[in-house]
Amino acid sequence: MSHMSQKWYQEAVFYELYIRAYYDGNGDGNGDFRGAISKLDYVKSLGVDCIWILPMYPSPLRDDGYDIADYRAIHPDYGNLADFQEFLDAAHDRGLRVITDLVMNHTSDQHAWFQAARQDVNSPYHDYYVWSETGQEYADARIIFLDYEKSNWTYDEKAGKYFWHRFFNSQPDLNYDNPAVQEEMIKIMHFWLDLGVDGFRADAVPYLFEREGTNCENLPETHAFLKKVRRMMDEEYPDKVLIAEANQWPEDVIAYFGDSDEFHMCFHFPVMPRLYMALKQGDKKPIVDILDRTPSIPPEAQWLTFLRNHDELTLEMVTPEEREWMWSQYAPDPRMRSNLGIRRRLTPLVENDKRRWLLLNALLLSLPGTPIIYYGDELGMGDNIWLPDRHGCRTPMQWSAGKNAGFSAADETYFPANADETYGYETVNVEAQENDQDSYLWATRFLLQARSKYQVLRRGQMEMMAINNPAVLAYWRFNPNDEPSDDRLLCIYNLSNQQQSISLELDEYSGRRLTDLLTQSEHLLLGEWPTVKILAPYASHWLRID
Ligand code: NOJ
Repeated sequence: MSHMSQKWYQEAVFYELYIRAYYDGNGDGNGDFRGAISKLDYVKSLGVDCIWILPMYPSPLRDDGYDIADYRAIHPDYGNLADFQEFLDAAHDRGLRVITDLVMNHTSDQHAWFQAARQDVNSPYHDYYVWSETGQEYADARIIFLDYEKSNWTYDEKAGKYFWHRFFNSQPDLNYDNPAVQEEMIKIMHFWLDLGVDGFRADAVPYLFEREGTNCENLPETHAFLKKVRRMMDEEYPDKVLIAEANQWPEDVIAYFGDSDEFHMCFHFPVMPRLYMALKQGDKKPIVDILDRTPSIPPEAQWLTFLRNHDELTLEMVTPEEREWMWSQYAPDPRMRSNLGIRRRLTPLVENDKRRWLLLNALLLSLPGTPIIYYGDELGMGDNIWLPDRHGCRTPMQWSAGKNAGFSAADETYFPANADETYGYETVNVEAQENDQDSYLWATRFLLQARSKYQVLRRGQMEMMAINNPAVLAYWRFNPNDEPSDDRLLCIYNLSNQQQSISLELDEYSGRRLTDLLTQSEHLLLGEWPTVKILAPYASHWLRID
């Protein structure tokens, strides 16, 4: 018996898949939906449940598709709506769900609305955007793309006014004070939901409204509109999921769950950099502190957790001192930095050290929340810091040691496959790893399988275990409704590069046998408690008490 609600998204594993990078089905150098269809069996074989695809709409690609020119079509590089539908159906046939990115906050400046808006200030579309005569308003709103933009206002010659944009100046913000904009967005959602998508990752939601004298983030008007969106979803598409991309502190992000009447899920941004921080410091404090600071969420809600994604590893949710420290540790070369973050992939961040890679992944899969795996990280793919902006982490998927990493038959691809000595496709690729039981790919499948067998890892409560050693993080995952010893797991991580000893005070389990799900060793700890246990450097254990 469980009092917990069981929604599919609360227990799933997500896989972030970039269509352009995945597989080129027509040999033009770009990944596409037809290509991705042919790789769905691979996706399924990983043990994931839901695919999140990056924006797939027509776009001038100034922000890789987060600048949408038409919300109801597919970028020609990726195919057409029929291809998309086939991809969706093929995923569903395999029991995989698909969520798409929905960029609510802004459009591309190439969108027909913006073109009409700037051409004619009397057009109904003019009021779809946020204009100013002076470009002086909302001075308290921060600039997000610090490396690229000097202001959130850009002057438009045609309109003879400034328009508001929180991101690139090619991405004018929509004006949510205009009810027509709200209706348009809801209609767009219907369009995709009716095709069968399983939900949306709603991009940049904190910024929908602007108000003088505020930082223009998380405003009550924004929440009111988002609640309207959720009402529509609840009434018409009850099993689908709405996800907030709100890069905010826990106490602010919590508002996006509402009272079970806003988002089903929110990314947990602040926890992510602290996993890397704790690992580098050999100290659990950053993780413990942020979890302490994380409020509880409504019963049908869930966090989304991740190690990396298609953006820079964001350091917005750390203090300035912590940010400097993270940069010095993880981004020694200035080319590795971007905006307030680090534009590198997971495996180079842990210096291709399997123990640290495993530790971070085991943490990801055992902390509360629905984890997301970023395509290629299951292989230990690397980045290419010589590519501009965030593209270095968006290179072609490495399928084989063949031409273009087996990604495309074209002579030239959208960006070259990574040819680095350590992380390049000749060494790191699916084909090679399928045949290597010690590979990252096998480790990924193994971890996901272990997680899928233990309900407590997916939905159990979490309780920190007091361990008198700062380098060792230990917590229980358990089902509060079960007998104390049944279905309980003890997760233990040595965050340091040194051996650590801990004493486990577990009187009530005295004499029981422990099995480690990760090393698959039995009888790990026998005998009387408390037991002193030596942990290897960067050791990870998921212990089941038999
Ligand atoms: C967040 C997305 O993840 C990022 O890639 C994009 O540039 C901004 N939102 C603006 O849409």
